[in-house]
This record gives sequence, structure tokens and C-alpha cells, in this order.
Amino acid sequence: MTNPPKRIAITGAAGNIAYQAMFRIAAGEFLGDQQPVALNLIDIPPAMPSLGGTAMELEDCAFPLLRDVLLSDDLEKGFGDADYVFMFGARPRGKGMERSDLIQENGKIFGPQGKAINDFSSRDVRVLVIGNPANTNALIALHHAPDLDPRQFSAMTRLDHERSRSQLAARTDQPVANIARMTVWGNHSPKMYPDIGYCTASGTPVRELVGTDWHREEFMPGIQQRGAKVIEARGASSAASAANAAILHMRDWVQGTPKNDWVSMSVLSDGSYGVAEGIVFSFPCQCSESEHAIVPGLELDAFGREQLKANEAELLSERETIADLLS
Ligand code: NAD
Ligand code: LMR
Repeated sequence: MTNPPKRIAITGAAGNIAYQAMFRIAAGEFLGDQQPVALNLIDIPPAMPSLGGTAMELEDCAFPLLRDVLLSDDLEKGFGDADYVFMFGARPRGKGMERSDLIQENGKIFGPQGKAINDFSSRDVRVLVIGNPANTNALIALHHAPDLDPRQFSAMTRLDHERSRSQLAARTDQPVANIARMTVWGNHSPKMYPDIGYCTASGTPVRELVGTDWHREEFMPGIQQRGAKVIEARGASSAASAANAAILHMRDWVQGTPKNDWVSMSVLSDGSYGVAEGIVFSFPCQCSESEHAIVPGLELDAFGREQLKANEAELLSERETIADLLS
């Protein structure tokens, strides 16, 4: 194995999602079993002792691919030379809160971190924002990275995408591996639009199998509120499933999506599907060699177009709320 290691920065490294993600990344689930990795684990000063314990556990796994582990509360060191960044570091919501309630407190984290990525990470870095509200936090981060292409930043709606695939597999009684062309549009919020218009189950259009009433009255609210349901049951927000989705998002971005399928990724809108530019919006995307492209030309019915408009309005309003963080 002669490839030089790829450096992966992980913020919120002492938190719950990072704990579920980093061992899988070190085991090769993100970049494959031929690619050595180095981990830059970033958190705030009070979290450093606990992060030291996690570093001992990483060591105790003797992962053959893991070449180096750096712990840091310093952004220059933490993001230095990073090829990939997972931004988990942010407060999660509790019971009864909306993700947007976190916007002022969490938003402040992403300006300085975006700037540090701009100044110290690899010029080809790829960044995934998971910390909520993820879409607007990603907008803040990319805004502070003017020397990088905004296309190097994305936010996570992949958990909503996988939640949808799983529920559709159960409803249609088909293997989840055969659920393709799912799309989650918009914001990672209760307004997100889980669209089954092009989705197939073992090649059959899902819409024909499940019907419009079930889609709108049961499936959509179920996906839109799934995060809240997990919090209600666990007393803590999703962690293992979020880590899984983050690894899948980054893996597919780097290694590519299957030829006849796509994934849901939140990226800076370029005006596709009439969505306002300047917001980070979830679109169907195909990826190849660390580039993503919004799938063009999908037809949306009047209901779908209304859903996209509602998401656009919500993201424009979030942008307005944090306008001071974009200056
Ligand atoms: P957690 O509270 O367990 O961990 C958060 C970690 O971030 C803590 O270790 C904290 O010290 C650290 N942190 C806080 N400020 C930081 C900073 N400035 N720099 C670096 N680290 C910092 O939370 P968690 O369960 O791991 O969730 C993390 C975030 O991910 C939350 O905002 C949560 O809502 C979000 N989330 C998003 C999705 C999604 O689908 N987009 C899914 C699940 C969770
Ligand atoms: C989720 O969807 O599980 C996360 O965004 C956590 C949350 O606050 O719902």
C-alpha cells in the first residue's frame, strides 16, 4: 500500500456523531481499503480530555490504514492540509426544539471555521456540513472561503434520503438496495420535500405502488419529522445513522454515484429548477471523481413546485436571520 495518506479533519470530534463516524473512516469505509488516512480531530478546549480517550481507542484498534491522529482546538492546526472535512461540531437540538432554533448559536461557529479551511486546507478540499441548521451553516462556511470554489462545500440531506429509501423498501416489500432515484429537495428541516416522482423499486415506479395519499399523508410527514421522533425516543439526536449518512455522502462524492441513480446533496443553488441562487438547497446530484452535478430536466408537478418554493422561502429567511454572519 503506497498511496500517501489523505488527511481528514473532523470537527465536534468529541461528540456523539463523530464517535460513530471516525472508527469507520479509519477502517476504510470512506476512501476504501487501499487508501491510508490521517485524522485531524477538532473540538473546543473543554472537550480535549475526553477526545484524548477516543484517541487511545483509535490506537487500540490498530487500524492498518490509520497513519496519524492529531488532536487540536486550534483551527490552523486542525484544518491544516485537510483533504476532506466533516463538520459535525455544533450543538444538537433537544426535545421540542426546531433545528432553526440553533441558528444564532451554531451559525457563529461556521464563519471562523470556513475561513480556516480557506486559509489552511488543501486547495482541493471537499467539505460536508452536518451541524444544524446544516444548509445555512454550509452557506456561512463557504461565504468565508472566497479562495475556494463554493462547489467544494455541501450540507447533509443524505440521512433524509436513506430514511426515505428504507421506508419505501418496507412499504413496497422490495430490497432496500433496489430503491433508486429518490430525491429529497430543499432544506434539512420539516419543510424538506421527499419526492418519489422518479423513484423506482426493483424497476417499478414507486408512485404506482404506494399511491399519492400515502405519499403525502404518511410518508412525507414521517420523513420530515423522523429526526424529532428519534430525539423523543432516544433523548438525544440521531448519531449512528447520521454518521452513516455522512460517510455515504462523502464516499459517493469522491468515488462516484451509480450510473443510473443519484443521491440527495445540499449544494449552493445555481438557479436550477428555478431555485434562488445564493442558498444551499438539496438537489438530486450525480457525482464522479469528487465533482457533483445537479441532475437536470426532472419534471415536477404543481404540488412539487409548491414544495420547492416553500423550502426556498425558508432558506431565504434563514439567510436573512444570519445576514450579520455573512458580512
Ligand atoms: P454532540 O453535542 O454530541 O457533539 C457536538 C460536539 O461539537 C461537542 O463535542 C462539542 O464540544 C463540539 N463543538 C461545539 N462547538 C465547537 C466548535 N466551535 N468547534 C469544534 N467543535 C465544537 O452533538 P452530535 O449529536 O454529535 O450532533 C452534532 C450536530 O450534528 C448537531 O448540530 C446536530 O443537530 C447535527 N445533526 C445533523 C444531522 C443532519 O442530518 N444534517 C443529523 C444528526 C445530527
Ligand atoms: C436528524 O435529522 O436526525 C438531525 O438533524 C437531528 C435533529 O435535530 O433532528
